[in-house]
Amino acid sequence: MFQSRPCCYCILCTLLGLAITWLMLFGHAPAAHAQEVSFIKEVAPILKENCFACHDAKVKKGKFDMTTYAGFRNGGTKDDPITPGKAKASILIDVLTSMGKDRMPPKDVSKPLAKEKIDIIAKWIDQGAKLDAGIDAKASLVRELRSRWQPPTPAPAYKFPNVVNALAFTPDGKSLVVGGHHELLVWDYNTGKLERRILTRAERTYALAYLPDGKLAVAGGRPGQEGDVRIYNIQAGKPKDLGGVPTVDGVNDKDVLLQIVADADDSLLALAISADGKKLAAGGCDRFVRIFELPSGKLEQSIENHADWVLGVGFSPDGKKIITGSRDRTAKVWDTVAKESVVAFPEANAVYAVVITPDGENGVSACEDGGVRMWAAKPQTKQGKSLGSHGKPALRMAQWIDPKDAKKSLLASSGADGTIKLYNPIGGAALKSGAGFTDWVYAVAISPDGQLVAGGSYNGEVRVFKVADGALIKAFDATPGAIVKVEEKKTEDKKKVEEKKK
Ligand code: HEC
Repeated sequence: MFQSRPCCYCILCTLLGLAITWLMLFGHAPAAHAQEVSFIKEVAPILKENCFACHDAKVKKGKFDMTTYAGFRNGGTKDDPITPGKAKASILIDVLTSMGKDRMPPKDVSKPLAKEKIDIIAKWIDQGAKLDAGIDAKASLVRELRSRWQPPTPAPAYKFPNVVNALAFTPDGKSLVVGGHHELLVWDYNTGKLERRILTRAERTYALAYLPDGKLAVAGGRPGQEGDVRIYNIQAGKPKDLGGVPTVDGVNDKDVLLQIVADADDSLLALAISADGKKLAAGGCDRFVRIFELPSGKLEQSIENHADWVLGVGFSPDGKKIITGSRDRTAKVWDTVAKESVVAFPEANAVYAVVITPDGENGVSACEDGGVRMWAAKPQTKQGKSLGSHGKPALRMAQWIDPKDAKKSLLASSGADGTIKLYNPIGGAALKSGAGFTDWVYAVAISPDGQLVAGGSYNGEVRVFKVADGALIKAFDATPGAIVKVEEKKTEDKKKVEEKKK
């Protein structure tokens, strides 16, 4: 049969086939006609992008909340904005295409929707304006869209410096975990070699904290979209190659991603774990501080005590108090047992980081004005004592509690001045500092044995110093694919020797 088919048909078929392929690739119309428009995949993202800012449950302009399908169809002061099957008769299409004052989004706020977007919505209405199967009409569309979103795989080599927002020493003290773009990066800081990559849903990592059992809690998010705290076993999983580095899947592999503790509508920026590992506190852009029980992950308290982003959080040594710092220019101590505020310490600027000292007596706040101040964690406290100043914003703090003698504990602060400063948190004496960063130092960590302090900066540089004398041990670029130059103390000493020879 096939062989006996006349040849000209073959050419026709081929031409027809080519034409169809061409249309499917380059002409949108035929493919779109054939398919039904999906509300959740195609319409809801347009609404979220252009309309939800004014038409969600909070703002509700025109008494219209379109963040659920039911709310969308319920309309506002007017009725259902949709006449199923008849786009041209629908209020929705009227307001999107209007030349008058009633145009949506409003003229003074933005341009009209692109014609292609209006066409998608109109087609969906003409096809009956149906909600996709399996979605509850009252379900939050923001959440439905979020649950469908899949993180991209990070680039094998980054085109831009990796902004280091968080870093932590591994429990054995041999490596540093550094936040990357949709991933965690484990660097052997002695060689500057990238040992392992752990893919994450979060685009950015803002805070890292190890649990006593060696699991890693990570706070992060996608700005303006979502935020989370997730617990990982970064050693587990079956590694695959990404840019020549063993890489495990912390997004889907249940051996690597152990638990999703917090899930929020915007980035989570701060994270702390109580000394006994039984409580986790997190805060971020939604202003709330949430305390979870571990290992269950049960939400124990949700504290609305700040008027702006929560940038820092820390536990008292006994786990009964937490300290929080916010862009609202206050640092506060909260009693987690009595569930009440102990003290609100006023600062003149945003509070970027906070800790409670190892004796539980004092709060320390690191602020936008560069100051690092210590103050009594008691009601009526108004005055603080200056521990030091970065001159430019003081961005992060890390504390190490000496298990043998709390008086020998360490506190480190990092700042926009490119330095890390060290203090004794009991008494507040200044110790040696680390310097030489060429950009803002957004992250700081102290090694588990209290011997080393590491910082990470906006331009991807990680520098590791000896606590005892502030000497630089190693420096490298923590950007995947960067040409790694490891600076070390020896070479510096060599330079000095050479200079002396001259
Ligand atoms: C900057 C805020 C803002 C944005 C963005 C916005 N709207 Fe509105 N919308 C309003 C206000 C205000 C009203 C009430 C107007 C009135 O009652 O005169 C309104 C009313 C409406 C109404 C009429 C509701 C009713 O029943 O009275 C519809 C439909 C509507 N908007 C659709 C949209 C759509 C679709 C988008 C996105 C493409 C959008 N809006 C984006 C502010 C906004």
